[in-house]
Amino acid sequence: MKPKVYYFSATGNSLYVARQIVKNINGELIPIASQMNKNNIGINTDIVGIVFPVYYNRIPIIIEKFIKLLMQIEGKYLFAVCTYGGGPGESLQMIQQILIERGGKLSAAFGVHMNCAQLSRQFYRKFKVYSSLLFYSTLPTAAGSP
Ligand SMILES: Cc1cc2nc3c(=O)[nH]c(=O)nc-3n(C[C@H](O)[C@H](O)[C@H](O)COP(=O)(O)O)c2cc1C
Repeated sequence: MKPKVYYFSATGNSLYVARQIVKNINGELIPIASQMNKNNIGINTDIVGIVFPVYYNRIPIIIEKFIKLLMQIEGKYLFAVCTYGGGPGESLQMIQQILIERGGKLSAAFGVHMNCAQLSRQFYRKFKVYSSLLFYSTLPTAAGSP
């Protein structure tokens, strides 16, 4: 089974990042919006990514709802990538918390500084540097720090 990369993107930054990841890991790209009519989402692959923008230092509501639909996530390699203009805020910790409540956990978490949402498509296509890497060890786990 190919790795699955779920994304939500309003202005294209997170979509761009998700596409880069999918290209590099030979994964399957899935828009989160296309999943929101489901009652639950069974995960039948070992590697799952979630790519999203930071909103008000938090995760967008659609991301919270999406993660709460995920089933069979225990023991899977789950990674999250946030894109932002200023900083990741509490977004990755929020994802970790919800995943833990659902029996899973983040194996890796990354932040991508996109400068700002109003940048032109031509500019951010050239902006390929992942400017900050947020280590899993900085995130809370059910048992405290890993
Ligand atoms: C409603 C809204 C709230 C945002 N809040 C934050 C924030 O708190 N911190 C931050 O760094 N960027 C914030 N941003 C910027 C976005 O996170 C950033 O531009 C992101 O890359 C947009 O991703 P997208 O193009 O995939 O929608 C916000 C953008 C919007 C539209």
